[in-house]
Amino acid sequence: MCVKPIIAPSLLSADFNRLGEEIEMLNRSEADWIHLDVMDGVFVPNISFGMPVIKAVRQLSQKPLDTHLMIVQPERYIHTFKEIGCDLLTVHWETCTHLHRTIAQIKEEDMLAGVALNPHTPVAGLEDMIQDLDLVLIMSVNPGFGGQKFIPRSLHRITELREMIERNNSNALIEVDGGVNVDNIKDIINAGADAVVAGNAVFKSENPEETIQKLKQL
Ligand code: DX5
Ligand code: ZN
Repeated sequence: MCVKPIIAPSLLSADFNRLGEEIEMLNRSEADWIHLDVMDGVFVPNISFGMPVIKAVRQLSQKPLDTHLMIVQPERYIHTFKEIGCDLLTVHWETCTHLHRTIAQIKEEDMLAGVALNPHTPVAGLEDMIQDLDLVLIMSVNPGFGGQKFIPRSLHRITELREMIERNNSNALIEVDGGVNVDNIKDIINAGADAVVAGNAVFKSENPEETIQKLKQL
């Protein structure tokens, strides 16, 4: 695959004292999307940020907002996330009893619809839904925190998903989230991913803008 990967820096690792500057840096950079991690302290053992912060990000950001909901009952907030300016909404497989309905609700709000899979959730479970999805987010760490180590087994999961997408003529993009950096992005893209999230690799680096460029060039 010679198409350049989609790079989605995760704001979770940004310096929140300088949020405006961090977003301006992303605007200037080659980043394609801004990844927003919403955590509720129930589905994952951490609480991050919610609507007021996303609203502020929307006002400053020129890039699409790729919102990753790590919350129980995400269907309760789909309309609100649209209202505050999200472009892509990803819900976790593990949180949705009626996943098909939830995905339809996201699309009805004119957002792109994604499903995230925890590292233990079988990829095969998506076979009957893959044609309805715009994106699948493969978690390559256990969700909840930035700065964790990439789980190597994720590479097989990406390839398995790529095969499923092709088998079903689906247009779903594969995004990979957790422990992505300049050293492993090539393997991740070669395994079949279209997009990567990068938190610590970008924001904790000396020159975040340059790191984004490096990720983009593999
Ligand atoms: C983890 C989040 C990730 C996280 C990635 O639960 O979903 O998006 O911010 O951070 P890094 O790239 O540092 O692993
Ligand atoms: Zn995420």
